[in-house]
Amino acid sequence: MSSPPTDGAPLLSVRDLQVSFRTRRGPARVVNGLSFDVHAGCTLAVVGESGSGKSVSSLALLGLLPDAVAEVRGSAVFGGDELIGRTEEQLRRVRGAGIGMVFQDPMTSLNPVLTVERQIGEALRAHEKVSDEGVRSRAAELLTEVGIPDAASRLRAFPHQLSGGMRQRVMIAIALAGNPRVLIADEATTALDVTVQAQIIELVARLQEEHGMGVVWITHDLGVVAGIADHVLVMYAGRCVEEGAVDDLFDRPEHPYTRGLLGALPVVDDPRPARERDDLVTMPGLPPDPVDLPAGCAFHPRCPVRADARCATEVPPLAAVSADHGEAHRVATFYAGGDRA
Ligand SMILES: Nc1ncnc2c1ncn2[C@@H]1O[C@H](COP(=O)(O)OP(=O)(O)O)[C@@H](O)[C@H]1O
Ligand SMILES: [Mg+2]
Repeated sequence: MSSPPTDGAPLLSVRDLQVSFRTRRGPARVVNGLSFDVHAGCTLAVVGESGSGKSVSSLALLGLLPDAVAEVRGSAVFGGDELIGRTEEQLRRVRGAGIGMVFQDPMTSLNPVLTVERQIGEALRAHEKVSDEGVRSRAAELLTEVGIPDAASRLRAFPHQLSGGMRQRVMIAIALAGNPRVLIADEATTALDVTVQAQIIELVARLQEEHGMGVVWITHDLGVVAGIADHVLVMYAGRCVEEGAVDDLFDRPEHPYTRGLLGALPVVDDPRPARERDDLVTMPGLPPDPVDLPAGCAFHPRCPVRADARCATEVPPLAAVSADHGEAHRVATFYAGGDRA
């Protein structure tokens, strides 16, 4: 696995992204100052429980949240251009050709009444003028590239005629049609069984290497992250609570939330039943309501380590864990490493 480059400009640079939905109960503050960089040839994993704002963040930076629904602030620079606040027309060119996206459920993102060829064709034509002949051969090439055998006959298939894994491969082919520099995969393997999941993960890793893409791998499942990510960003209530190189984060998690997520992972080679494992931590409680976020650290009402007056009033800044680990491992808690009073 490649290690993240320490030099070189990022392909995508997100700073202080904020998304607030207009709801009848008041503003729902779903993303609250998120910053990250995506580098060529590297995989950034964004992890967090369901509802932590992972999908909304990527929709926001691709301009897929209409003004009437959400207020988006902050900055997302891609290829030298600011994406936030751009027109639909300008963003349409970025989506696909610049940043490709693969979603969780190909059955809802694929059009059920169009053949695979038509759908890949639309993606190809969105970026360049291509003849019918050109579409057919390029679409067949793309299917082959994503590991679909017998591409010529698969082109005539409709989505329901394909397995879940095949449909996800078609989604990846569509995402690749515009030759994106960045690929965002949002729960791309969540709906698949473990064997197919492993195949899709391997496919994305191979494509990343061949195309030198930057990949953002969004998942609620920390278990798949260790094998694929270079850098991990842990999200809670729309903020980054901890980030770092994958090995640092797994070996030395500092935030109680990260520790909770890691503790909740099944220990594969532990023969004891779950109830006897003292290291198996489950995380009680639920993520906060974005309309009514707790003051201070959003995690403090659930924090198993220590929640004191400071936690309830001050938002802990995201700061380097220690000078020896460099600037890359950063955490937002007043009590890193699980210090107890
Ligand atoms: N259109 C919307 N209006 C109001 N709230 C929304 C809307 N879309 C998403 N949300 C809220 O945003 C929060 C984060 O959602 P999401 O980004 O999908 O979470 P994740 O992908 O991390 O599971 C959730 O609380 C969700 O209910
Ligand atoms: Mg999501």
